[in-house]
Amino acid sequence: MRDRDHDVLHKVAEEDKLPVEEEDVLRDVINTNLNGVLNTVYPAVRYFLSHNKNKVSQIAIVSSLMGSVPIIGGTYGCTKSFVINLGHVLRTTYAKNNIRVNVVLPGWVESRMADAFPGSKALIMSTSSAAATIKNGLANDRAVIDFPTIAAFTMDVVSRLPIAFLNEASRFMGGARSFVKKSVQDKLLKK
Ligand SMILES: NC(=O)c1ccc[n+]([C@@H]2O[C@H](COP(=O)([O-])OP(=O)(O)OC[C@H]3O[C@@H](n4cnc5c(N)ncnc54)[C@H](OP(=O)(O)O)[C@@H]3O)[C@@H](O)[C@H]2O)c1
Repeated sequence: MRDRDHDVLHKVAEEDKLPVEEEDVLRDVINTNLNGVLNTVYPAVRYFLSHNKNKVSQIAIVSSLMGSVPIIGGTYGCTKSFVINLGHVLRTTYAKNNIRVNVVLPGWVESRMADAFPGSKALIMSTSSAAATIKNGLANDRAVIDFPTIAAFTMDVVSRLPIAFLNEASRFMGGARSFVKKSVQDKLLKK
């Protein structure tokens, strides 16, 4: 975040406004969702290239169904979309080195993050069902492991709709964006 008067930041926060800008949110989410992935995936790739040359290795990268239609998911969706495409590129690049890369695209799954999120969580899955689905997808080396089926199908259809329609639909996700923004603001205020 750029230099800013912290007292002013606190005051505006008390008045329940959101002084955090879209760019601040994007940079913060990039730090966790992209740098976190790069910081874990590339050491694994390097390790497998040097130690597992003659064995099959596997890397699972967690994105989100929201990454299929980033315009709906806002900044979170943008980063998750990058993660999906990174997974595809890595899968193609390292196939010759026997490294399998699988991208996991969950819908709602019970977790701390899901608990904290306001509003409806349609088709939420238990952690055990999600784990079983992921395990099965990895065993079958599916490039994309997306679930639950109905949500994955819906997002696939939605991703093919015209951009003008998606712009309208993204308004319904205003609540989600405010939630991400508020989380980032709370984090910055703690600094
Ligand atoms: N749950 C869902 O419905 C859902 C849906 C789609 C995608 N996903 C994706 O699934 C993945 C796991 O999420 P979850 O639902 O299991 O959430 P979670 O229970 O809140 O777990 C998130 C994990 O990420 C760690 N973490 C968060 N920020 C971090 C940071 N800056 N540096 C290092 N570690 C950090 C947390 O560490 P601490 O334990 O130390 O806090 C925690 O272990 C995420 O990539 C999420 O986007 C989840």
